[in-house]
Amino acid sequence: MNVRSFAQLKLKRQKISMVTCYDHWSAQILDATNIDCLLVGDSLAVVMYGYESTVHATVEMMASHVGAVARGAPNKFIVADMPFLSCSQGLGVAMAVVQRLMQAGAHAVKIEGNTHQLDIIGHIVEAGVPVMGHLGLTPQSIHHLGGHVVQGKDEVQAGKIIDSARQLEAAGCFALVLECVPARLGGCVSQALQIPTIGIGAGPDTDGQVLVLQDLLGVNPTFKPKFLRQYAKGYRVIGDAVNQFHADVTTGEFPTLAESYR
Ligand code: KIV
Repeated sequence: MNVRSFAQLKLKRQKISMVTCYDHWSAQILDATNIDCLLVGDSLAVVMYGYESTVHATVEMMASHVGAVARGAPNKFIVADMPFLSCSQGLGVAMAVVQRLMQAGAHAVKIEGNTHQLDIIGHIVEAGVPVMGHLGLTPQSIHHLGGHVVQGKDEVQAGKIIDSARQLEAAGCFALVLECVPARLGGCVSQALQIPTIGIGAGPDTDGQVLVLQDLLGVNPTFKPKFLRQYAKGYRVIGDAVNQFHADVTTGEFPTLAESYR
């Protein structure tokens, strides 16, 4: 998979799969899977650090996790999120962050938000760095949006999202994440664009789907938004394994002589 494959897959009507990845050990597992693309999302601030929102992701955090993922998944196309406000402090700051993330091992950056960043996006693309857009629910603007609410529900809002998507495409984005929008709007945006859309909570008609790895693995049993399908009971599998280890240690079942050095 490379940046050109995204448009080719859309042309072939082949869906694109993307999953978040934040660390080296899961990157090694994902490198051996069929997944098309890895996203070092700023959701790592919530999932890995326990912050309330992605606002807390820093450039340092992002670069460090991109490096860990790139070393673990040398065969995957890796997209890295530009963290909170890194594109709103002028071109110099934005380009310095792009440089950090690309030198850490990313193959593309993802930029959240609307069209006030079109010039910067155009400049990054001109500089030779692929940019993925992100519209709909944009978690970095959570305080402005007033919570994790579905976006584009009325005609006016939906029209704005379609316009913004077209502008991001014109600015040079190679793909677009669409988060938490009605399924009908997900389909409309996908039809309106040549570049693929990758949905999360955007219905079945986007050109691909993305989920947070820990969510699809069911690691947090209480996090069950409507759009999420859990593919494993990770919470139980991990808890059971650790409890079994505890039991084996306390009963003396572990380690056996076969698990010991002579
Ligand atoms: O940061 C992230 O994980 C994301 C996905 C939810 C698309 O942006």
